[in-house]
Amino acid sequence: MSLEINPDLVRDFDHIWHPCTQHKDHQVTPPILVEKAQGIYLYDREGNRYMDVIASWWVNLFGHNHPRLNMAITRQLEKMSHVMFAGITHQPAIDLADTLVSLTPTGLDKVFFSDNGSTAVEVALKMSLQYWQQQGQPQKTRFAYLKGGYHGETLGALSVCGLEIFRTKFEKVLSDQLPVDGPDCFRCPYGLQRQSCNAECFEPMEKALSENSNTVSGVIIEPLVQGAAGMMMYPPVYLKKLQSTCESLGIHIIFDEIAVAFGRTGSLFVCGEHDLKPTFLCLSKGITSGYLPLSATLTSDEIYSAFYGEHSERNLFIHSHSYSANPLACAVANESLSMLTESNFLESLKPKIAAIKECGRQFDGITGEFRQTGMIAALELVENNKERYSFEKRVGYRIYLEGLKRGLFIRPLGDVVYFIPPLVITEEEIEVMLNTAHVCINAVLK
Ligand SMILES: Cc1ncc(COP(=O)(O)O)c(C=O)c1O
Repeated sequence: MSLEINPDLVRDFDHIWHPCTQHKDHQVTPPILVEKAQGIYLYDREGNRYMDVIASWWVNLFGHNHPRLNMAITRQLEKMSHVMFAGITHQPAIDLADTLVSLTPTGLDKVFFSDNGSTAVEVALKMSLQYWQQQGQPQKTRFAYLKGGYHGETLGALSVCGLEIFRTKFEKVLSDQLPVDGPDCFRCPYGLQRQSCNAECFEPMEKALSENSNTVSGVIIEPLVQGAAGMMMYPPVYLKKLQSTCESLGIHIIFDEIAVAFGRTGSLFVCGEHDLKPTFLCLSKGITSGYLPLSATLTSDEIYSAFYGEHSERNLFIHSHSYSANPLACAVANESLSMLTESNFLESLKPKIAAIKECGRQFDGITGEFRQTGMIAALELVENNKERYSFEKRVGYRIYLEGLKRGLFIRPLGDVVYFIPPLVITEEEIEVMLNTAHVCINAVLK
């Protein structure tokens, strides 16, 4: 596909380098200069409206500019905007830690705050490693991860990322971890269906863990949905098997629920819904409903106790960020969690989940797979026999451009067109979202 460059297009973004962006594309289609955002819509400075179909990189739950969330920040702002979080604590963080512990499965008793998803993962990896050192098992230094897994892009998180596009250029500085073939339900090598299988694909993980149990510190996994891999979805039985194997082999489990927690799958937490007990639970994104950066790594009293004792460099957990547990972020997270847990909010998602399923049927005639886990849906577009389109065809990118013309802000992952709307989207808006996406897809594939 050749892009026509418009040299006259001079915009205000000349000095900015955006993430995950080929800036040459912007010479043809500049980034949308969003001036305001309200509910599930973004408005550019010309007054055009775009539905925020992917909740601003999967963070927004209650829509933009929500009066209650705004108020929570304003109230906190009148008291204090930020203080450091060592030698000092504050009420918003205390309340948030209490709430998170009360809402997550028993056994997750301690909350370590940081300020984005990748750092929540770094914290879990470091705690796990240091725990084993303090238990007299310093040889436990590796993490098993899925080949389709994604846990952020700092170098530690990237070391347990299974997606080549993110890691190849940095391979030389990444640490040596244990990649394992994971579930791929659309192209299941066992010829099974995710609705009825018994996670036969757990076999490689079982083998990798039993052969390396002496050196493996933990397994890191995105429960139910492997987001960056293209919203690859797999059944909970895989996680049940993982839990029982890890328990019997003495290996930590790190649940990275950064993308899937806080209602995205229809429940507050995947671990809670499926009675799973990870050693570490990483949370971020929706924690503040998309208002401010914040993350939390939860773990057990048992892990915490290994770090508790007389002051010594050996048992001190050294990991600090200037903005850890920012009070404004904690205040808005507290309000967002109240909204998630009151007035049967999660119940209200059920008809929406059903509407996504119903409207998703219109994609049946398109070659690929439409899949859904709660409020997350994705359409993987393929050519005959489940082959991926070639990179050069830029199918996903062209669908994104069609979306912009029709007031839909979609950002496909390769050729996977996905939908993670704010949870407050209505059933009518779901219909518009999926119908419009259908038109965009047809415009490109025709
Ligand atoms: C599952 C998962 N883990 C970690 C991250 C990294 O979070 P952040 O972008 O806030 O560093 C992401 C981000 O998309 C994610 O989806």
